[in-house]
Amino acid sequence: MLNGKSILLIVGGGIAAFKALDLVRRLRERGAAVTPVLTGAGAEFVTPLSLSALAGQQVYRDLFDLTAEAEMGHIELSRASDMVVVAPATADLMGKMAGGLADDLASTLLLATDKRVLIAPAMNVRMWDHPATRRNAERLRADGILFAGPTDGNMACGEYGPGRMAEPLEIVSAIETALGQGPLTGRHVLVTSGPTHEPIDPVRYIANRSSGAQGTAIAAALRDLGAQVTFVTGPAVVPAPAGVDVVPVETARQMLAAVEAADPADAAIFAAAVADWHVTEASHQKIKKGANGLPELGFAENPDILAAVSQRDRGRPSLVVGFAAETEKVVEHATAKRARKGCDWLLANDVSPGTGIMGGAENKVHLVTADGVEDWPRMDKNAVAARLAAKIAEALG
Ligand code: CTP
Repeated sequence: MLNGKSILLIVGGGIAAFKALDLVRRLRERGAAVTPVLTGAGAEFVTPLSLSALAGQQVYRDLFDLTAEAEMGHIELSRASDMVVVAPATADLMGKMAGGLADDLASTLLLATDKRVLIAPAMNVRMWDHPATRRNAERLRADGILFAGPTDGNMACGEYGPGRMAEPLEIVSAIETALGQGPLTGRHVLVTSGPTHEPIDPVRYIANRSSGAQGTAIAAALRDLGAQVTFVTGPAVVPAPAGVDVVPVETARQMLAAVEAADPADAAIFAAAVADWHVTEASHQKIKKGANGLPELGFAENPDILAAVSQRDRGRPSLVVGFAAETEKVVEHATAKRARKGCDWLLANDVSPGTGIMGGAENKVHLVTADGVEDWPRMDKNAVAARLAAKIAEALG
């Protein structure tokens, strides 16, 4: 069921657009609200009137429609729904998405959204098999876009093969899966990620080499199991995943405030590489070289966010997971760190430059719990995230 969910449905051009009308009906039968967007090419195949009548809502068509913009701006429109679905997704729309183009309402919404996007491609078999479309599909998958179909079948153009749009009910079921009827549905999970930047003056800061890749992968994996994820992130290199509530911060003190504002959570995962210190008297003006010799920086310790949450008397998440970035005696240090901080689980990794872990695509972790240490093999950060998310789901029951 999709009760209470809202879907922004972009209808592209193509003979399969007629199936989008049935898709609207099926979605509404399941309790979803549907906001339709019709591309110029789409309007050649279905009328705005039929789409609007079935959806029970106004159809959005034009990026520069002032009335529609006044009612709801296109950025807001791109974010107001729980999910964006493109059906049919033409080769042209896929190309625009893969290239990041935004020259009409549909492509602009797709570029501006912070929600999960699912596409149901529909095109001639040759077009689907073309190296350009293959490349675009691969790019979109890597960007986290979900696909329903295409399937094999007889096509309106008389050819047979892949390129046929998935049936409305198949698309509905892909939407239901993506909207996460998973083991963590109804759970709120907090994830911190990325480095922090601690200012020295308005143009300089102290940072670390964290890319945010592991925290981002964990947030995405928890989302995929149905969790509502609050993602508190420092200035990371890796973009935040779609479909999570992103809270961008810069300093450790801001991160603590954001974590406190996100309460209550069922579980909290602290993957951020938080700076241990901040500069006590960060200058409001750029520090100039010369006259006063070398600058002297004073430091104060940052709040330990993981320890603060782990040691709460009230409102402690039932599962608190920390990370330990170590460069030597990894398990020994991590075991002591788990006890010192008071968290339930600690994932220890060796971040010595030779391992390529900090800022890299892979990780090798040791999971330290009250029951002992589990050594996980070296694997892709997404695989570490999936394994951790499954374990969290099991622990929360
Ligand atoms: N952490 C935190 N707040 C801080 C420092 C660290 O929440 N001010 C969290 C990190 O997100 C991580 C864990 O604590 O989950 C351990 O971080 P790490 O940098 O390995 O440890 P430190 O506490 O900094 O200890 P040390 O510098 O002694 O290694």
